[in-house]
Amino acid sequence: MSDFVDFSQPSLWISAASIAFNPTFWNIAAQQGIIVHGNGSDGFSEYHNKVITKLFGGNPRLGCYALAVTIFSLGIFRDYLYNEALAAQPTHPALLSPLVKYAAIPLFLTGNTLVLTSMWALGVTGTYLGDYFGILMDAPVTSFPFNVSEAPMYHGSTLSFLATALWYGKPAGILLTLFVATAYSIARRWEDPFTGMIYAKRDEERKKGKKGQ
Ligand SMILES: *[C@@H]1O[C@H](CO)[C@@H](O)[C@H](O)[C@H]1NC(C)=O
Repeated sequence: MSDFVDFSQPSLWISAASIAFNPTFWNIAAQQGIIVHGNGSDGFSEYHNKVITKLFGGNPRLGCYALAVTIFSLGIFRDYLYNEALAAQPTHPALLSPLVKYAAIPLFLTGNTLVLTSMWALGVTGTYLGDYFGILMDAPVTSFPFNVSEAPMYHGSTLSFLATALWYGKPAGILLTLFVATAYSIARRWEDPFTGMIYAKRDEERKKGKKGQ
């Protein structure tokens, strides 16, 4: 195995830690919460307590933008650490064939297309947990890329990690990509029911004839 992946490189573990940290951070920040306003509620989170919103003068949109900048920056840093980790890893001859290398290009383009078009379709607040700030979309987005993938942001990001691993011919990159996929799948298990709950509650209130704002 050591011919494939050099586990003695600290950069490998640092990259893995940052991959695990990011979705953990945004779920805790938005869901379980760090900072928020008490309305006598039961949780400690943006959704329940609105701490981030309070920090930004009661403006949920500003709070969400701040979280967006933070999550986006953490993502850039994670990508940097991933590239650093790959640089310290061995290549494998089977991955160095032109076929594998050039397969990386469509994978990378597909991955980035999924990520960028879903950000475009959702907007900043839709992409970065705006629903936790009470900024809900009128209806679920079903246009491209949501008609080709259930979670285009996560699938696209995973594809980009894989493409980078193949481009550089690094088995360690494939291993880290599997770790990315696992981290996202765990994140979705938290996020999807939570988002579903927020929208179900909104729909219930709409039915009762209460105005959203
Ligand atoms: C998804 O939507 C796009 C346009 O928004 C369309 O071109 C494409 O064919 C659709 N794909 C599927 C699988 O429905």
